[in-house]
Amino acid sequence: MKPNIIERLITNNPLRAFSQRHIEGPMLRKMAGRNEYPLCFEIGCGRGIGAQVIIEQFGDEGVIATDIDPEQIERANRNLNPNLKGRIEFKVADAMAIDEPDGKFDAVFSFGVLHHMEDWRKAVTEISRVLKKGGEFFFEEPFRPSQIVSL
Ligand SMILES: C[S@@+](CC[C@H](N)C(=O)[O-])C[C@H]1O[C@@H](n2cnc3c(N)ncnc32)[C@H](O)[C@@H]1O
Repeated sequence: MKPNIIERLITNNPLRAFSQRHIEGPMLRKMAGRNEYPLCFEIGCGRGIGAQVIIEQFGDEGVIATDIDPEQIERANRNLNPNLKGRIEFKVADAMAIDEPDGKFDAVFSFGVLHHMEDWRKAVTEISRVLKKGGEFFFEEPFRPSQIVSL
C-alpha cells in the first residue's frame, strides 16, 4: 500500500534518517550471524536511507532497494550519494511479488514495512524464496502486534 501524506512526513525527515543510521542499523548489525552480506535486497526502501545503512554496515557488492511507490524511488535516486551509485540500485517493486530469482540474496531488509502490506505473509514467503540457503532476514516493526507473529 502506498504511504499517505502523514506516513510520508513521518518517514521523509532527518529524525527518521538518524534513527535508521544510528539506532536500527547498529541494533540489526549486532544480531547478524555473519560479517559480510555481499548481495542484499530491501523492501519498502522509502527515500533510500536504509540502502545506505545496509551498504555501510552490512553490504559488500551491493543492494537492490525497492518500493511500491514510484515517487519514493524517484526521491531515493535524487538523494543517492554519487559515491554509492554503482552499488545501490533503486527500483519500483511489490514486496508481495518480488521479481527476482530464487536464492539470489545473502540478506533481505525491511525497515518498518511489513505492517504496510495487505498480506505480510505473502511478502515473507517471497523474502524467504529470494534468500540464499542460510541467508538472513533483518526487519524492524514499530507496532507491537506486528512484532509477535506465527509463521
Ligand atoms: C513506513 S514507510 C518506511 C520507509 C523506509 N523503509 C523507512 O524506514 O523510512 C513504508 C514503505 O513501504 C512501502 N510499501 C508499502 N507497501 C509495499 C509493497 N507491497 N511493496 C513494496 N513497498 C511497499 C511504502 O511505499 C513506504 O515507502
